[in-house]
Amino acid sequence: MSQRQYDVVLYGASGFTGRQTVEYFAGNTHQSEVRWAIAGRNRQALEAARAQAGEDAQSADILVADAHDQQAVDVIVSRTRILLTTAGPFSLYGSKIVDACVRYKTHYVDITGETFWVRDLIDRYHDRAAADGTRIIPCCGFDSVPSDLGTYLVVRQMQKSLGADCREVKSFYQIRGGLNGGTFASASNAQASGQSARMREPFLLNPPKTRSAEELKLNRDPREARFDSDIGAWATPFVMGVANTRIVRRSAGLFEQWNESYGPEFRYQEFQKYGPPMARTKAFITLAGLGALQAGLKSSFGRRLLRSLAPKPGQGPSQKTMDNGFFRCDLVGIAADGRKIYGVVFDKGDPGNRATVKFLCESALSLALNADELPGGQQRGGILTPATGLGDVLVQRLRNAGMRLETSDRGPIASQSV
Ligand SMILES: NC(=O)c1ccc[n+]([C@@H]2O[C@H](COP(=O)([O-])OP(=O)(O)OC[C@H]3O[C@@H](n4cnc5c(N)ncnc54)[C@H](OP(=O)(O)O)[C@@H]3O)[C@@H](O)[C@H]2O)c1
Repeated sequence: MSQRQYDVVLYGASGFTGRQTVEYFAGNTHQSEVRWAIAGRNRQALEAARAQAGEDAQSADILVADAHDQQAVDVIVSRTRILLTTAGPFSLYGSKIVDACVRYKTHYVDITGETFWVRDLIDRYHDRAAADGTRIIPCCGFDSVPSDLGTYLVVRQMQKSLGADCREVKSFYQIRGGLNGGTFASASNAQASGQSARMREPFLLNPPKTRSAEELKLNRDPREARFDSDIGAWATPFVMGVANTRIVRRSAGLFEQWNESYGPEFRYQEFQKYGPPMARTKAFITLAGLGALQAGLKSSFGRRLLRSLAPKPGQGPSQKTMDNGFFRCDLVGIAADGRKIYGVVFDKGDPGNRATVKFLCESALSLALNADELPGGQQRGGILTPATGLGDVLVQRLRNAGMRLETSDRGPIASQSV
């Protein structure tokens, strides 16, 4: 692998998030440390993205391949140790890239939230990538890194400091940010392709296992607004929960297979949290809005209407919106005897762009620069998750990059401390 010409290729580099990955690499790495190049389908657009990323990006090579051209994709994938891609919808533009990564044993990270597509990858490639030690890690963006790493930290802290297995983790999100055209296109494509029913399966991404009716009931997606006494706040289902919960449950399922279980009855759910004033009213208004959005995406007329209002592919929020955004994910882990561990993952900046780019680029850099420290050693591979494929290495890199990932056994972590 070290014989390969590049450590990391940034594919989709001319898209809205892709351009930000180029800026991140230019600002945080040097070619002498990480040999990186940019790639996509259109040379002119890639040249513009490189020029926009400033002086430090100018030494990055440009590689061209349409995502549908398997031969051209193979040439790129065979020249790099790690392929990072932001070209989505991934169910449209990602399959040939993953296929090549599995054949050439090239590690892979992306920012998809299209869980039906991830399920297809598991069915097609997990066994071969696992046998070869190739890490294929989808969902390394805002979905689903905070949920997955936050849960991982809370569970492991509970096992370490309380000596107890974890029965349940709940995450509570607060977010401020904008919407990318690519994100809307992916959500709309998932509905239009008739895959939404599959995405409702709570254990869509888990290894096969017989489950009791009780376990299925406890992991069903929440639908209501309610007051949660464990955090003392009003909560509704979180819009990304339908993707994040599947990733966290896959992590739990894989860890169980490897005898590193979170706990025999482990379950996970995810919510959006509301503070005063008028927390209850805000929760019910959001619930109604979420229902209207889902209903809109279900019909082709609704999708057309929403498409005319949403940003187009290639577009996204203004710099000001991205600068003024933030996310905060509060977690509570509960042991069978009721004892609790609390956690928080927090960062400033629009979660769908600033945080996503940090999560994704640091995931690729974990593979590039910390290969010897990765969980499971050199031999671990498969269709993995951020927690199972990158674990503590990514936690530490994100902390070094200014993100807060903390746990506490002394009660909820106060807002002012993050
Ligand atoms: N996980 C998260 O939190 C998160 C956050 C943001 C975005 N996302 C996801 O990331 C994806 C991209 O979002 P975005 O806002 O960056 O979208 P975007 O600006 O529309 O970018 C899409 C990229 O795909 C490329 N592309 C389209 N067709 C292609 C083809 N046939 N061959 C090769 N490349 C092709 C485009 O190339 P051109 O530049 O040449 O058009 C562009 O680079 C979406 O799936 C979105 O859902 C996830």
